[in-house]
Amino acid sequence: MISQEQRVVVVGAGLMGTGIAHAFASSGFATSLVDSNTEALSKAEKSIYGILDGGVKLGKLAPELAEAAKGRLSTNVSLKDAAEGAMLLVETVSENLAVKKAVLSEGAAVLAPGAIIATNTSALSVTEIATAVPSPERVIGMHFFNPVHKMKLVELVLGIATDVTTVAVSRAWCEAIGKTSILVNESPGLTTSRMSAMLGNEAMWMLQEGTASAEDIDTALRMGFNHPMGPLELGDLTGWDTRLSVLRYLHSTLGEKFRPCPLIIKMVAAGRYGRKTGHGVYQYDEAGQRVPNSGLKASAL
Ligand SMILES: NC(=O)c1ccc[n+]([C@@H]2O[C@H](COP(=O)([O-])OP(=O)(O)OC[C@H]3O[C@@H](n4cnc5c(N)ncnc54)[C@H](O)[C@@H]3O)[C@@H](O)[C@H]2O)c1
Repeated sequence: MISQEQRVVVVGAGLMGTGIAHAFASSGFATSLVDSNTEALSKAEKSIYGILDGGVKLGKLAPELAEAAKGRLSTNVSLKDAAEGAMLLVETVSENLAVKKAVLSEGAAVLAPGAIIATNTSALSVTEIATAVPSPERVIGMHFFNPVHKMKLVELVLGIATDVTTVAVSRAWCEAIGKTSILVNESPGLTTSRMSAMLGNEAMWMLQEGTASAEDIDTALRMGFNHPMGPLELGDLTGWDTRLSVLRYLHSTLGEKFRPCPLIIKMVAAGRYGRKTGHGVYQYDEAGQRVPNSGLKASAL
């Protein structure tokens, strides 16, 4: 279904576009990375080279394979030139509906017939983005995870018009780059953000009620469920400000079970966003190290 001759264009050379372009180029596909900002393009190229060279240093990648992957990667400021004849376009520009629609509309006009048009949007409607192109049945959400070279999952998100061929070919693309895909009907928070928001919120309710200490809630999930990180330390990493806006969105779309815990609202009001402000559920020193036993105590709430 997918041949190594098929070309891929990744639009948006930010955090995600960099990882996605690396995934395709290192899996054998000629990959054009497009961005309107030339600085973003050179930064992205540098970090892709860095990932490849890092793999060589660690003995995980043969030097000739790293060089071949670099040779398959090109950068371009012109979407029209890069997308001409490509079989897959992955849009991963800034999270803005109008910008994404403009990119899809321009790309769709020059892609190869039957090409798949994917969007890496986190929260916008795939159905709505797909209205920008004449063949919305070819549009699908391809939701990658950061850092792309380490995270195996891709959530394939079906808009109202996405057809079965697009789903099958998209699954094959994911497999071709070593990712595991799951299918999700377009819905708020998809599977992962929705589940993670629920877990983080529940952990905060438990902390607020004094059910257990922050350290023990995190240990419970790490040791009891083999989660790599507890929900409170993960919230500190993601940022409770971001968490709160996701929860507010899920509360407004999915209902009462996502009502944000008042403790999260209080922490955000206090500027305790987590690692990025040096203080969240835990406190962090200037080197970014967690201060031992600094977890928020129920008695202090
Ligand atoms: N950051 C994450 O962890 C994450 C995870 C999954 C999905 N996403 C989604 O991926 C997308 C990109 O996120 P990001 O974190 O990489 O953003 P980013 O801000 O790091 O990168 C976006 C890039 O798009 C470029 N861009 C903007 N408009 C453009 C245009 N018209 N043409 C070409 N390039 C354009 C910008 O110059 C920038 O380099 C968003 O939709 C986001 O919701 C992000």
